[in-house]
Amino acid sequence: KVISLNVDKVFSFVNKSDIQAGAALAKQYNETLHKGSGKGSDFLGWLNLPSSITDADLKDIADTAQVLRSKCEVVVVVGIGGSYLGAKSVIEALSNSFDWLQKDRKNPVIVYAGQNIGEDYVSELIAYLADKSFGIINISKSGTTTEPALSFRILKGELERKVGKEEAKSRIVAITDAARGALHTLARKEGYKMYVIPDNVGGRFSVLTPVGLLPIAVAGFDIQKLVQGAAFMEKNTAPDVPFEKNLAEQYAVTRNELYKKGKKIEILANFNPKLHFFAEWWKQLYGESEGKENKGIFNAAVDFTTDLHSMGQWIQEGERSIFETVLSVANPANTVLVPKDEEDLDGLNFLVGKRVDFVNKMAELGTQLAHVDGGVPNIKIEIPELSEYYLGQLIYFFEKACGISGYILGVNPFDQPGVEAYKKNMFALLNKPGFEKDHEEIQKRL
Ligand code: PA5
Repeated sequence: KVISLNVDKVFSFVNKSDIQAGAALAKQYNETLHKGSGKGSDFLGWLNLPSSITDADLKDIADTAQVLRSKCEVVVVVGIGGSYLGAKSVIEALSNSFDWLQKDRKNPVIVYAGQNIGEDYVSELIAYLADKSFGIINISKSGTTTEPALSFRILKGELERKVGKEEAKSRIVAITDAARGALHTLARKEGYKMYVIPDNVGGRFSVLTPVGLLPIAVAGFDIQKLVQGAAFMEKNTAPDVPFEKNLAEQYAVTRNELYKKGKKIEILANFNPKLHFFAEWWKQLYGESEGKENKGIFNAAVDFTTDLHSMGQWIQEGERSIFETVLSVANPANTVLVPKDEEDLDGLNFLVGKRVDFVNKMAELGTQLAHVDGGVPNIKIEIPELSEYYLGQLIYFFEKACGISGYILGVNPFDQPGVEAYKKNMFALLNKPGFEKDHEEIQKRL
C-alpha cells in the first residue's frame, strides 16, 4: 500500500496537454534538485535524509527519548515554525483525540511552548506544570529566535526551582546548530544533551532530523517506521521514476498549472480531525517556500466536515480563485457502527449497521462533486491509514513536491527573507542592543 494522488478532477479547469507539457519541466527540476544546481542548493540536506539516517542515529534518539519518558509526566517542546510543527503534526495525527485526558498514561503528555508570545499561555503552562514532573526539549536552529528563547528562559527557571540545577540538566535536551547561536552556547555551558540540525536542512524541512524525531519518540511513536515510509517515498519520487508514477512531480505540475489559470489559493481539506496540525505543517512548508517575489499560491486549510458548516459556503460560491487538495484517510483505525433505534425519531435508521466512516466517505465524495460543480478544481491525496509509515511517505512526498514546485514557480524554495521584516521592527521597538538607531527611526512612525 502506498499513498495515491488523483488529479482527474482538475481537467475541466486545465488541459491535460498543459499538464503533460509541464511534466518535462518537473522532471528537469527534480533533476536540478538532485544535482544541487538550482537556487538555494545549500539547503538540500533533506533530500537524502531518510535513506541516510542510520540505525545508530535512531537508537541514540530512542535512548534519549527513554530518559525523558522515564523521568517526565510532561515534556515541553519549545520551538516555533519548522522547529515544532513537524513534531506536532505527527504526534497529533497518531494520538488518541482525548489523549491529554487519559489517566494511567504509558506516554508523557507533550505540550508546546515558544510558538507564541502569549503571556496567559505561558502563565497557564507554568500553573499546569507546577505539580508535574516535566522536562524540556528546546529546539532552535538559529538558536537566537526570540519566542522560544523567551519561553525557555522562563521554563528553565521553573524546572531548576523545582528539581534543582543538576537534575534539570538531565531533563533538558537542546537541538540546534552545530557551532553557532545562543542556544548552542548555553547548552554547551550547561552540559545539556545536544542534537545538531544539519546546516543544509532548513527549519520547515527538518521533521526527519532530531527536531521532529525526538519529540515523536518521546510521545511513544515508532520513528523507525516514520523514516522507512519517508525512505520509500524518497526512492519513489527520484528523477528516474517516470512522471506517470512520480507523485511529487505530478502534484507540483498540477498545482502550478492551476495557479497559472488564476487559482491562487490552495485549500488543504481533511476529513479526519487528527490531520489538523498536519495541515499547519503543510501551510508552513508551502507558504514559506513559495510566497516570495510577489508570487506564490496562498495556502489555507480546513477541517471537514466541521468547516463545511462555516467556510463551506465560501468554497462553494465565493470568488473562483481557489482549488482544493483533499487529504483522505482510507481506513480509520477503529470501527463504530450506527446503532438501531426502535423509535427512529432522528430518522437515521437507514444507516443502521453502517460504519461512521461510511457516512464520512459519502460526505467526502458529495463535497468533492459539489465543489467541482461549483468551479473548484479538486486534487485528491489518499493515505491508506494514519500510521508512522504512511505519515513518513506523506511528509517526504510533500517536501519533494515543494522543492520541484518552487523551482517551477521560479523562486528559491529554501529561503525565507520575508520572515525578518517583523523581527527587525520588533527589535527596534524593544530597543534591543544593536537596534538603537532603528529604535529612534521607528518611534517617529508611531
Ligand atoms: O522554516 C523555517 O526556517 C522557520 O520556520 C524556522 O523554523 C523558525 O523561524 C524557527 O527558527 P529557529 O529554529 O532558528 O528558531
